Amino acid sequence: MKVVIAGGHGKIAMLLHPILEEKGHTVKGLIRKEEQADDLRKAGAEPVVVDLEKEDDISEYVGEADAVVFAAGAGPGSGKERKWSVDRDGATKLMEAAKKNDIERYVMISAMGLETPRGDDVFQVYQQAKLQADKALRNSGLNYVIIKPGRLTNDEGTGKVKIAEKLDRGEIPREDVARVIAEILEDDTIEDVEFDLLSGDDEIKVALQEFV
Ligand SMILES: NC(=O)c1ccc[n+]([C@@H]2O[C@H](COP(=O)([O-])OP(=O)(O)OC[C@H]3O[C@@H](n4cnc5c(N)ncnc54)[C@H](OP(=O)(O)O)[C@@H]3O)[C@@H](O)[C@H]2O)c1
Repeated sequence: MKVVIAGGHGKIAMLLHPILEEKGHTVKGLIRKEEQADDLRKAGAEPVVVDLEKEDDISEYVGEADAVVFAAGAGPGSGKERKWSVDRDGATKLMEAAKKNDIERYVMISAMGLETPRGDDVFQVYQQAKLQADKALRNSGLNYVIIKPGRLTNDEGTGKVKIAEKLDRGEIPREDVARVIAEILEDDTIEDVEFDLLSGDDEIKVALQEFV
């Protein structure tokens, strides 16, 4: 399978590339900084340099694929403007590219609890931008999976998660989010679903199958 990951040098993406490579898939990572290209190659992904904020149409960079993953984000420390231009508009540009290139599946890394405003005004803009991106994906006609993890940690993954429509706040290692994405990509019966995701007691495959 061919997978294109926007936010290719992000922490989750860098954990996802080797998992997918090991399973025999071809991975392309979209990055905006040429100097990150070698890191991607070492992690098992082909780097493609494109700035999601500078291009309106990213379809030629995305190219042919079976699925796309949105793992980009303006990140902490960025202002309100970039929440709109990356977290919302970057995600919708990837939807447009997927449609144009006949790519049917789109996996979104969203976040838990976006409907409840919290934090400072920049964080609330982030919440709105992510909510609008999720809504655009639901209405896009693409086959979608919206993953809503709790607070992300850099702890080692356990391979055990909890999945439900709504969960109380909690956390999950980025490595486990990457494993969940890999499992979803390999199971195309998982379609048009969205769920909260935290560390838990269930094997990833079992948790996904019980949910869908
Ligand atoms: N932090 C949390 O607790 C939490 C919880 C739930 C969900 N999430 C979501 O999970 C997502 C992924 O998490 P993560 O930790 O893996 O993210 P991350 O390490 O911050 O990675 C985001 C990537 O997006 C890239 N990016 C930013 N602007 C771009 C642009 N204009 N064009 C192309 N790429 C661009 C960044 O590239 P550069 O290196 O060039 O900046 C970075 O590599 C987050 O963005 C967030 O929306 C986070």
